[in-house]
Amino acid sequence: MHVLVTGGAGFIGSHVVDALLAAGHTAVVVDNLDPAAHRSRPEYLHDRVEHRFVDVGDRETWVELLPRVDAVCHQAGKVGLGVDFADITAYVASNDTGTAVALWAMHHVGFRGRLVLASSMVVYGEGRYQCSVHGDVRPGPRTEVDLEQGRYEPPCPQCRRDLAPVPVGEDAPLDPRNVYAATKLHQEHLCASWAREHDTTVVALRYHNVYGPRMPRDTPYAGVASIFRSAIAGGRAPEVFEDGGQTRDFVHVRDVARANLAALTVDLPPGFHAYNVASGTPRSVGDLARALADAAGPQAPRPEIVGGYRLGDVRHVFASPEKARVELGFSADVGFDDGMRELARANLR
Ligand code: UD1
Repeated sequence: MHVLVTGGAGFIGSHVVDALLAAGHTAVVVDNLDPAAHRSRPEYLHDRVEHRFVDVGDRETWVELLPRVDAVCHQAGKVGLGVDFADITAYVASNDTGTAVALWAMHHVGFRGRLVLASSMVVYGEGRYQCSVHGDVRPGPRTEVDLEQGRYEPPCPQCRRDLAPVPVGEDAPLDPRNVYAATKLHQEHLCASWAREHDTTVVALRYHNVYGPRMPRDTPYAGVASIFRSAIAGGRAPEVFEDGGQTRDFVHVRDVARANLAALTVDLPPGFHAYNVASGTPRSVGDLARALADAAGPQAPRPEIVGGYRLGDVRHVFASPEKARVELGFSADVGFDDGMRELARANLR
């Protein structure tokens, strides 16, 4: 199979390209080498892969390449929370308009191959919670007053009792809580429309917190694993916000690449399919900081719980990986401790 991988020079996309080649497939990469993620041309790009260093919104490139490929794996996009709200136009241009151009071109050239979309668990907003009295409940955004006073756990919206977080399934209500999350959900909806109108197959992979080699280093667009790893490498203590008890599912990038391979190749009927891509074992942000510091050795600075919060952060979100296991045959392989030991030694980009 010949696959067009957008963002194929980036953190996740480059591992997807590696996985494709290892499985005997070929790839063509479209990537604009965004300076927010790349300080220079990455050294790991394969000579035998064709690279087009253009923006994903470049219509001519799409129209030229689509007739030559069997499938598209759309990884390009702007990730993270960004600097501030002023980033909104950059997120919409890259994520929404970039995807719209891709879909326009697919329609224009009559492309009927499979489309795999890099989506995110951020489409769920706050994860799933149970109240001992009211059952399944959906807490709203945490208030600044609660956060200021160190009440980090979202309370039951009906009785304000403490809640138990439980894994989110793909049927959980979608509730994006920041600009980036809104663009991810919009990408899903645009791709689903293309699938409906053309009787094609779209697979949205809702990544949980991806980490591993080639992670971009500390930038306003980086996830917490990269921020902590960069801090330790720079001799600074990882700063853990809130009380460190917030939970996520940290999934290794090579597992994420395998999930993409499965999403590109497994038999699926036409239509829109969404899957959590997760390890299935939630960890707290405090655990993450300690694991990275431990893996870096006895001289490494220890994490500091600094309190504070970022408005827009959710408290707990972790996944049920069951649907991906049953329908894609995908389960994560890399354990948290092994993965963190590797990340502590790996070069960041
Ligand atoms: C992250 C990514 C998002 C991606 C999603 C799923 C970022 C900014 N977010 O969302 O793009 O779609 O995973 O892969 O890349 N924290 C600290 N100290 C810090 C930084 C963060 O304690 O220095 C805490 C935050 O308060 C938060 C948690 O770590 O509770 C996770 O933060 P982060 O990785 O930035 O964002 P996610 O919401 O998990």
